Amino acid sequence: MDIPVVFTLSSLYILAILCCCSQGQSPPYEAECVEGKYPPPSSRRVKEYVVNLDLPGKERWKHVAAEKKQEIKNILASFKKYIYDFGGIAAEIWYLIDLLGPAIVDVLPQPFQDEIRGISDVTGIEIGEVTLYNIFYEIFTVCTSIVAQDSNGTLYHARNLDFGLFMGWDPKNRTWEITELLRPAIVNLDFQRGGKTVFKSVNYAGYVGILTAISPGKFTLTMNERFTLDGGYIGIINLILTGKGTWMGFLTRATMEKAESFKEARAMLTSTQMIAPAYFILAGNTSGQACVITRNREVNGTDTWWMKEAGGWYVLETNYDHWSKPLFVDDRRTPANKCMKKLTQKGVGIPGIFDVLSSRPVLNKLTTYTALMQVNQGHLETWLQYCPDPCFPW
Ligand SMILES: *[C@@H]1O[C@H](CO)[C@@H](O)[C@H](O)[C@H]1NC(C)=O
Ligand SMILES: *[C@@H]1O[C@H](CO)[C@@H](O)[C@H](O)[C@H]1NC(C)=O
Ligand SMILES: *[C@@H]1O[C@H](CO)[C@@H](O)[C@H](O)[C@H]1NC(C)=O
Ligand SMILES: *[C@@H]1O[C@H](CO)[C@@H](O)[C@H](O)[C@H]1NC(C)=O
Repeated sequence: MDIPVVFTLSSLYILAILCCCSQGQSPPYEAECVEGKYPPPSSRRVKEYVVNLDLPGKERWKHVAAEKKQEIKNILASFKKYIYDFGGIAAEIWYLIDLLGPAIVDVLPQPFQDEIRGISDVTGIEIGEVTLYNIFYEIFTVCTSIVAQDSNGTLYHARNLDFGLFMGWDPKNRTWEITELLRPAIVNLDFQRGGKTVFKSVNYAGYVGILTAISPGKFTLTMNERFTLDGGYIGIINLILTGKGTWMGFLTRATMEKAESFKEARAMLTSTQMIAPAYFILAGNTSGQACVITRNREVNGTDTWWMKEAGGWYVLETNYDHWSKPLFVDDRRTPANKCMKKLTQKGVGIPGIFDVLSSRPVLNKLTTYTALMQVNQGHLETWLQYCPDPCFPW
């Protein structure tokens, strides 16, 4: 295999972190466990929109896309500028993606094809770019997901979504441009059929896949990026050549729309070939029903790590296999575990978990939001997150 083929975009994240470290930088603070951060000011609460699944695909996103058009454009413009700044073959890669965009959208499964066309129509953004926009969330989502059970057996599922692309450092504000641009695009969505909620999710407006979602009374799901050399381009090329493989975001979306139970959701998430590896963090509505599914691109080799093996009352996943150590410069797992142990099972609930996810370095400069779900009440809430200095990275 050629180096450029093996080299996945997501390795940029690891390279950037290693670069930072080799320059002698390390987090400018000790890991912390904060308390009393909940609730944050109401200005940080994310607004909800209804997506009507009874409408044709092209019509479903009209209101969201119209309202968030500028935000989506800003994100794409920033991404494009960043790719071009790389020079060399980066510009050609972008050119290729742009060129292939319309062809790729033609082979996407429905309803995604129509939904992406609809978003392109409303925003006036080229279809190739909307397609790219829908792909890059699959590649750069660096995160922390936690499922915890309180002493009554109630399950809570929460996550931080960090956008793992070191893009556009702003030395004056000491922020990452892409993270700043992503926050205003965050929306809560209530997907309805016949006027009734099928599931709820947190999305960056314009993205039609699922990274964080709840099927009320049934199950909750989050996806974390898994970095391996087996991901990215190889899967895409394989899809083009053999037609085998599903975009992660489409699989999670189909799971949210179709699965009627934790069991069915688990079956869908473990039996479909994907384009890139991933971690699925899945929890049900019954005590003990919580696991981390470590997926390869292929269906074989799937690992399911249950809450009872993980620690009894909670299971936690960042972006590393649970059986191996995290990358030493990106260890959010050890600090998060430390805060969970300090919280204890007695402290489990929305405020306690929010505190864990608000503790540096679990909270970091790439964190865009914290979402909190309680399945038995069908509850989902999302808060924008900021990490004031001193905060990693940089
Ligand atoms: C467990 O349930 C009892 C009775 O409903 C309630 O008082 C208590 O607060 C609950 N504990 C937790 C940790 O939610
Ligand atoms: C920097 O921060 C200020 C104050 O919060 C804000 O008005 C300004 O837009 C920021 N600049 C950039 C480039 O984000
Ligand atoms: C989910 O659990 C709650 C109790 O925790 C129960 O009342 C409810 O019926 C369950 N929902 C479903 C769909 O089983
Ligand atoms: C999965 O199956 C393929 C072909 O059937 C094989 O090449 C690959 O090594 C297997 N992977 C694992 C992790 O078992």
